[in-house]
Parts: sequence; structure tokens; C-alpha cells
Amino acid sequence: MDWHLECSDCGATASPEGLPTVCARCARPLLVRYPGRAHPVTERAEVRRRRGMWRFRSFLPLESDEEPITLGEGDTPLLAVPRLAAALALGDVWIKDEACNPTGSFKARGLSTAITRAVRAGADRFVVPTAGNAGVASSAYAARAGVSVRVYAPRTTPRTILSQIVSFGGDLVLLDGHIGDCGKAARAYAAETGAMDLSTLREPYRIEGKKTLGLEIAMQFDWTLPDVIIYPTGGGTGLIGMWKAFLELRHAGWVSSEMPRLYTVQSTGCAPIVKAFAAGALQAEPWPDPQTLASGLRVPGPLGDKLMLRILRETRGGAIAVSDEAMSDLARLGTRQEGIDFSPEGGASIAAAVELQRQGAIGPTDRMVLFNTGAGWLYREPEHLLAGT
Ligand SMILES: Cc1ncc(COP(=O)(O)O)c(C=O)c1O
Repeated sequence: MDWHLECSDCGATASPEGLPTVCARCARPLLVRYPGRAHPVTERAEVRRRRGMWRFRSFLPLESDEEPITLGEGDTPLLAVPRLAAALALGDVWIKDEACNPTGSFKARGLSTAITRAVRAGADRFVVPTAGNAGVASSAYAARAGVSVRVYAPRTTPRTILSQIVSFGGDLVLLDGHIGDCGKAARAYAAETGAMDLSTLREPYRIEGKKTLGLEIAMQFDWTLPDVIIYPTGGGTGLIGMWKAFLELRHAGWVSSEMPRLYTVQSTGCAPIVKAFAAGALQAEPWPDPQTLASGLRVPGPLGDKLMLRILRETRGGAIAVSDEAMSDLARLGTRQEGIDFSPEGGASIAAAVELQRQGAIGPTDRMVLFNTGAGWLYREPEHLLAGT
């Protein structure tokens, strides 16, 4: 392997051999470093000719003779939304529509890389705690690799998401409580059975898959970066992944734009990062009694809190909370006006853009990218929509 691992907090280095977890010294997340890889700018044209997120394989943890476990993830549309922008008086706004991934969310990217690496290292049994969509993606990619996965999810997870986990063959166990409680059950199951734990940031490779969000945005804007990115944040792998992507692209000389200002949006019912950011804290306190219909944002105590807060400050971005009502209303508006299937988390990005622009944090000429991280249909029970027909 031509890469090594480095702690995101204390800087200790670690070997990528076997099934790496967190930093042995401080238990914080590990990041992948590729000091020996060269990225000649001429490679940009070649990258454009390939397909899917693995078009960026020279930025990803893959050995030269190796093929990834893939379902064709990535290459999601980056869409201008003129009607939505006019309705909400938003400026230069773009939607990165991650609903178009296999399994209906951006979780496909990280699970493709994590399962590729773990299977290569010999793992044949997995476990994952999930707010929902990571459970669907883990089940699909485990099926693709011919291995098994135990999935712990909160009982309150939308029924359609749970049914997708079962459809892909995930061994689903429902728990009372939130994803933190599912995480404890997953660690106990891993200790008992030897299953590999795919929890957010407890292995280093999901971030690498999420990095392709940032690599793709740069390519789609012809190797420039937007001014602002708004990302609905739970565990934070997408935020961390994009930040890492932009640093690596700038280091390689593939883009020369300033770093985008990265914004986290959370629900007022579970906003540990927003609270810590506003308080000027270096890390977040666990959020008591987390409640939100955006199941992906119901993460009361993310392991990557310190790194996320550092990234939000370093990029001169911020963190904002929006109500469940606002995110649902704007998801509905966006879906009807633009034909994009917004999840509540995607609606949260739109609500955040409206509020940040109102506050003056986003100016009229700022180019902003809002994330629709997953598909709205995964959250709907069709009977409700069809009642009265
Ligand atoms: C649709 C959706 N959006 C956002 C998130 C939060 O993602 P992250 O954990 O990368 O912050 C999730 C996580 O489950 C999700 O499913």
C-alpha cells in the first residue's frame, strides 16, 4: 500500500495493514495520507473521460492491481435550480443531488471504499450502527461483496429505509434509542463475533469515499471551487471528506481557488455542532434527547466533533440549526418546483441557505452548493400521499 494513516488530532501515524480503527494513542479518527502520489495536471483530462467516483482512483485508497467493490456510485448531477432560486430570492445556487446514487444516498460512496478495503484485508462479516441510509448502503455493498452485515438502527427510522436494509439482505436489529445506542450494540457485537465495525470515523476509509463529493464538484465546475457549501451534518464524514478533497486538489495544483466556506446545518432538535460552534468550544457536548424527522441528522455525539469544528473555523464557514418544519416545507417546495427528490436533510440545506443569506453570511454573488444527501422517497410512506385519491 502506498499510503499511511495519521491521527486527525494528535498527529500520530499508523499502519494501514489489517483492519485499522481509530488512533491507538488518543482514540480520535485516522486520516489517510498519500505522500508518494503524484498528480500531474495532465491527468485531469483522463479523469474526465472515466466514469463513476472511482474515476478519481489516483486520489483513493486502491492499489494499482486492484478493482473496487462498486455499484456505479458517484457522478451525481450538480443542478442549477432557477425556479427554486427565484421563489426564495437565492443567488447563484446549485444542488448536488446525491439521491441519484445506488441505494439513494451519498452513503454509497463511503461504503464502497470501506468495504473494498476491509474485504481486501480479509473481513467477511460486518456490523454497522445507522441512522438509516448507511444501513441501506452497507447492506447493498456487503451483498455486492458476498459478505454479511448486522445492522443496528433506531426503531424510529423511516419504514421505507428499514425495508430497503432488509431487501438488500442486511441482518436488521431495531433498538430503542438513537444512533449512539446502536453504536454501543455494534461494538459489543464486533467484540463478540469478530465482525468488522463500519461505524462513522471508527475506520479511516469511508471519509476517502466521501472525498469524491468534493473532487466531483471541482470537476463539474471546471476545476474551480464554489464560494460556499452547505452540508447537512450528522457524523460529519461528508464535511471532513470534502475539506480533505479540496486540500488535496489544491496541493496537486488541480485547482487554485480559495477554500470554500463550509457550513454545517443541523436540526434544532439535535444540534451539538451548532451549539459548540456558537460557544467557541473545541469539542461538542452530547445532545440530550435528540429528536428530528431528518434521521440522518439525529447524531447526538459525533466522534469527529473536534475535527469538524476546526474545519468550520478554518474555512471561515459556520454552523446553523433549522426547524424540522422549515426543512420539510423547503424539501416539499424544491421537489415540486425542480423535480429533485429532496430528503428532509436536503430541505435543511435549502432552509440554511435562506437563513444565511438573510443574515448576510452569504452574499448575492456567492456561488453556493447545497447538498441533497439522500432521496425523499426513502422517508415517505406512500399511503399518506395517496390518502383521499
Ligand atoms: C440523508 C442523510 N444526510 C445527511 C447525513 C449525515 O451525514 P454525515 O454522517 O456524513 O454527517 C446522513 C447520515 O445518516 C443521511 O442519511
